[in-house]
Amino acid sequence: MKRFYLFFLILGLIFLQISELMAQEKISPQTQVCLSCHQVVTPGIVSDWKKSKHAKAVNNGKIIGCAECHTLDPEKHKDTFNHQGYKVHTVVTPLDCAKCHPKEAKEYSQNLMAYAHVNLVSNPIYKQLMEAVNGIYLLQEKGFKIEPPSQLSNQDSCFYCHGSKVEVKGFKTRNTVMGPMTFPEFTGWSNIGVGRLNPDDSKGSCSACHPRHSFSIEVARKPETCATCHKGKDVPAYKVYTVSRHGTTYASLKEKWNFGSKPWKLGEDYLTPTCAVCHISEVYVEGKVVAKRTHQMSDRLAHRLFGLIYATPHPKSPDTTIIKNKAGLPLPSELTGEPVKEFLIDEKEKLQRLNNMKAICLSCHSTSWVEEHFARLEEAIRTTNAMTLSATQLLLTAWQKGVANQSDGLFNEAIEKMWVETWLFYSNSVRFASAMAGVDNGVFEEGRWQLAMNLNKMYDWLKFLLTSAK
Ligand code: HEC
Ligand code: HEC
Ligand code: HEC
Ligand code: HEC
Ligand code: HEC
Ligand code: HEC
Ligand code: HEC
Ligand code: HEC
Repeated sequence: MKRFYLFFLILGLIFLQISELMAQEKISPQTQVCLSCHQVVTPGIVSDWKKSKHAKAVNNGKIIGCAECHTLDPEKHKDTFNHQGYKVHTVVTPLDCAKCHPKEAKEYSQNLMAYAHVNLVSNPIYKQLMEAVNGIYLLQEKGFKIEPPSQLSNQDSCFYCHGSKVEVKGFKTRNTVMGPMTFPEFTGWSNIGVGRLNPDDSKGSCSACHPRHSFSIEVARKPETCATCHKGKDVPAYKVYTVSRHGTTYASLKEKWNFGSKPWKLGEDYLTPTCAVCHISEVYVEGKVVAKRTHQMSDRLAHRLFGLIYATPHPKSPDTTIIKNKAGLPLPSELTGEPVKEFLIDEKEKLQRLNNMKAICLSCHSTSWVEEHFARLEEAIRTTNAMTLSATQLLLTAWQKGVANQSDGLFNEAIEKMWVETWLFYSNSVRFASAMAGVDNGVFEEGRWQLAMNLNKMYDWLKFLLTSAK
């Protein structure tokens, strides 16, 4: 009897050895070399990766290890360096991911997000805004001289979310725990902004929503992931979500929900939508796909709610630098609010996109519930645009009467900044609160009340400027 057990014990051990070996065989020899050192130098990265789908899923007979991502197309990456006999690059880009995920990468390249850096720095008005926010105000006899911001300041502000331009300055040898090694020297990195310009000329960073090295679908499906960039006064989607019924139900019940399943079943895996459900995910109900997964996102967006300076229909192209209004300004509307139609989607496309979004709502709500929701949103757009027009008229008066100066920049005087707050903070808050059904933020928090109050203040300030000019 004893021998019998021993026999099985030995058989069991041999089996374990073999399966271990088989798993090892699935790890490419290159990746085994990386792991041998990186288990020691960067243990956090290795254990994170080990728990990922990539460490288990097989592509061409091999799992997706360090070398499978960090040594792809060495000649295309300006940050490629010689590392223990391998041509390694540090910044793994959407083009690398595209080798195995071509659909997601292609869609993402057509997302407004991929253009978030370019749209900011190549639009003279937005660039001015960037400089007025990040520049250094030096007090002079007659007001301020604004020194343009340094790259590092922009990096610590707008580019954190919009993405930086990552450049390779050169290569430098330094001491490591394993002796001297040569590494690339970057400017603009570390950064995971959504429109980052990469050293292989690609745009964006997939780790904005799929943090390395787990690259998990669960993380991307949860709203906290979006909060990094969508929470501020100008872009309060996350704040709105957390007080909406969708968000409060998520907060109460999320432990019981399943964020990793494929397909992700509405009603079974989750009961109220997260950001991903309404904007990105495949919405799957009872064996039917109600909305296809999209990494482009605009296919469900009829409007551009974010005021530039008015809310308009969504732009046709994610590259918004091509837009010019009648006054020659790079804005999607005239200063009077009229949309610059030729660069924006038409009524038919708007309706299509609205229906794509509504189809998701209709899995859980009735038609009348949803129709009134979108009627409220249209009204929020109409009323906030009207308030923005009043603010713009006040500012135009200040410029015309010479009590504010347009030619030295649109954003650097108090009355100009009050005008900015009208559309960037308060009008946006009202619209976002309406669109995503969390009204609190859009009323007394930083919405309708402040929007009206700000107009009162602009009016009084203008009167004061005019009197003191006399
Ligand atoms: C002989 C040990 C060793 C081997 C083998 C090795 N690495 Fe490294 N690697 C290091 C050390 C040490 C660092 C420096 C860590 C630090 O910056 O503190 C490093 C840094 C890196 C970096 C960061 C570079 C930067 O710009 O900061 C990457 C990416 C990297 N290794 C990937 C790999 C990949 C992929 C492989 C396998 C093809 C590999 N390594 C093999 C020891 C090794
Ligand atoms: C699925 C592709 C993928 C795999 C597999 C992968 N990496 Fe990475 N790695 C990335 C991405 C993406 C980044 C982020 C770089 C950036 O900012 O774009 C990164 C960053 C790094 C960095 C720099 C991180 C920092 O914070 O300084 C190191 C070092 C690194 N990886 C090592 C490894 C090692 C070691 C392995 C294997 C255990 C590995 N990587 C596996 C995609 C991958
Ligand atoms: C060499 C091929 C390859 C590369 C390169 C690669 N992946 Fe993957 N990826 C896979 C495979 C295979 C799977 C598993 C698919 C499955 O299980 O359905 C996967 C799964 C995923 C998942 C789903 C994880 C989950 O929790 O279900 C995400 C997200 C992902 N990859 C993102 C990325 C990103 C981002 C990059 C680039 C930084 C990248 N991948 C690079 C092959 C690759
Ligand atoms: C690292 C920062 C960052 C993260 C994380 C992030 N976003 Fe964004 N997102 C941006 C920026 C910046 C833009 C605006 C780009 C522009 O206007 O040029 C944007 C734009 C958008 C848009 C508008 C797209 C359009 O075509 O109008 C939607 C919708 C959106 N994000 C949803 C999400 C969701 C959902 C998540 C989480 C799953 C998320 N974002 C995570 C930075 C981020
Ligand atoms: C915390 C993250 C974050 C920071 C920091 C940030 N933004 Fe944004 N920005 C966003 C998001 C998110 C959007 C998209 C909002 C939407 O689609 O509703 C956006 C959109 C924009 C747009 C619209 C561009 C277009 O054409 O679509 C402009 C302009 C802009 N931001 C200017 C700036 C400036 C200037 C700074 C720095 C002073 C800045 N942002 C800093 C997150 C950020
Ligand atoms: C704005 C956030 C965001 C960004 C940026 C993003 N993703 Fe995703 N991704 C998601 C979400 C959310 C899901 C889950 C979709 C679902 O539930 O159907 C997802 C799912 C995936 C999957 C599907 C995994 C599977 O096994 O079904 C892959 C692959 C993937 N993403 C790759 C990428 C790549 C490659 C990039 C960069 C080009 C990228 N993602 C950028 C949010 C993002
Ligand atoms: C119940 C569905 C739903 C949820 C959940 C949701 N959104 Fe939205 N979101 C919408 C709708 C509807 C719009 C307006 C669409 C339109 O008509 O253009 C919108 C608009 C946006 C926009 C504005 C794009 C622009 O043009 O300025 C951003 C950014 C955004 N959502 C991000 C998020 C983020 C981040 C979360 C999670 C914190 C989230 N959303 C949660 C439905 C949702
Ligand atoms: C997965 C199911 C699901 C989806 C998809 C969904 N909702 Fe909801 N929604 C709910 C649930 C559940 C509640 C909470 C109802 C309650 O408390 O009585 C809710 C609440 C709401 C409320 C809150 C009303 C209030 O007075 O607090 C509004 C408005 C709303 N949804 C609109 C929408 C819109 C618009 C969409 C699509 C863009 C949508 N919902 C998508 C499940 C969903």
